[in-house]
Amino acid sequence: MASNQDNAKVHAVGLIKEPGRVIKVLMVCLGNICRSPTAQGVIEKLVFDRGLEKAVSVDSAGTADYHVGKNPDPRSIAAASQRGFDLSSQVSRQVSDQDFDQFDYIFAMDVENLTVLQPRCPPEYRQKLKLLFSFTEQKRLSIPDPYYGDDGFELVLDLAEQACHQFLAHIAYEFSSK
Ligand code: 4NP
Repeated sequence: MASNQDNAKVHAVGLIKEPGRVIKVLMVCLGNICRSPTAQGVIEKLVFDRGLEKAVSVDSAGTADYHVGKNPDPRSIAAASQRGFDLSSQVSRQVSDQDFDQFDYIFAMDVENLTVLQPRCPPEYRQKLKLLFSFTEQKRLSIPDPYYGDDGFELVLDLAEQACHQFLAHIAYEFSSK
């Protein structure tokens, strides 16, 4: 039986073989002020560093509307800034029905948010929904919510960097073997 990674690879190759096609990635958490903005900021820089900015575009959204219109949590902005990632211009929004059509990869930061997204997603787009950690070899599934503590922000960055790195390695490999 094909693994998730095999299926993802076939999906990526199909997208990359369409000339001029931009691969659109959506990062999703609960509030869209901590984890998914961090993942967005991390992957944006990695995309830029690899010269893939014309080929990969990134956005983020929340399954809840608690913080719509706000910038990311100042603790996320500060921690990310220490590592060279700029989250400061991001603005929180809620996931919309159009997102399932418009994005190629919709990455949930944890199992709870994946579970919220699944029934909302039209069946023909379900293969787009994944945990961000599905591209890693790790047993971990979720990036823990740092909002109610003070010390989870570094872990969010560690995990986002690791997972985004792996996803882009996968994408870049497909580009180089086009
Ligand atoms: P996020 O973190 O989902 O990583 O943005 C949270 C932000 C806000 C809340 C919960 C989680 N909240 O309950 O307001």
